[in-house]
Amino acid sequence: MSRPRARRRLIFALDVASLKEVDRYVALLADEVGLFKVGKQLFVHAGPEIVRRIQAKGGTVFLDLKFHDIPQTVASASVEAARLGVQMLTLHASGGTEMLRQAHRAVRGVCRAERLARPALLAVTVLTSLGRDDLKQIGVSAGPAAQVVRLARLAQQAGIDGLVASPQEITAIRRACGDKLTLVIPGVRPQGGTPDDQKRVLTPHQAIQAGANYLVVGRPIRDAADPRQAARDIVADMARGLRARRSTEQTQDGS
Ligand code: C5P
Repeated sequence: MSRPRARRRLIFALDVASLKEVDRYVALLADEVGLFKVGKQLFVHAGPEIVRRIQAKGGTVFLDLKFHDIPQTVASASVEAARLGVQMLTLHASGGTEMLRQAHRAVRGVCRAERLARPALLAVTVLTSLGRDDLKQIGVSAGPAAQVVRLARLAQQAGIDGLVASPQEITAIRRACGDKLTLVIPGVRPQGGTPDDQKRVLTPHQAIQAGANYLVVGRPIRDAADPRQAARDIVADMARGLRARRSTEQTQDGS
């Protein structure tokens, strides 16, 4: 992967709580990363205006609000996100097939009718904060790994474009669902970096080589002495990861 291509696939988690910090990071990073992830904290703090503000400064937005509600409500919320011009948005696969289908259909319909670019709909399977016992408590007898694959398949059948998944789930999802789903992967740490509260981390190179399409990175960039350089180093590592992935694929094709 060339560096410009790698850069488009790096998502910076804009986990900050003030407009001043948003402005600072977007100015610093708009040319270094592909997207800015806006999550619940920032969205509740600043409202949809924050999306327009980032866009006005040259940033592209991944709206990570993890919708989960009755189908009609999620479809309407997804349509509004599409109208905001975000490139990706998230919803919970556990909301079920009908919720995912209706969201997909509504977004596709409105984007055609209003000539908007259609955002990618990404499903969250099992939150990485939930372990086997937590799932049991809510009546799910399958372990987390099996449940992730089950929900990944369900989301794919409902027309969802991709998934947010942890690094250690990449291989199982690719095996179950093939190469078409877009995999967006948080829990990535540069070589030698601190894991923060992330438990099983992969380096950018490893995550891309394993089959990730986009990486979400927050604190290693946000808290770096030079966030711009930190982003560049991650992009360079991603580019090396894709070259390694390509050469493995070529070897397999040739064998
Ligand atoms: O700072 P850090 O790189 O850990 O940030 C990762 C981002 O990805 C955060 O916004 C976090 O909420 C999100 N995320 C995650 N693990 C998941 C899903 C999302 O870290 N399983």
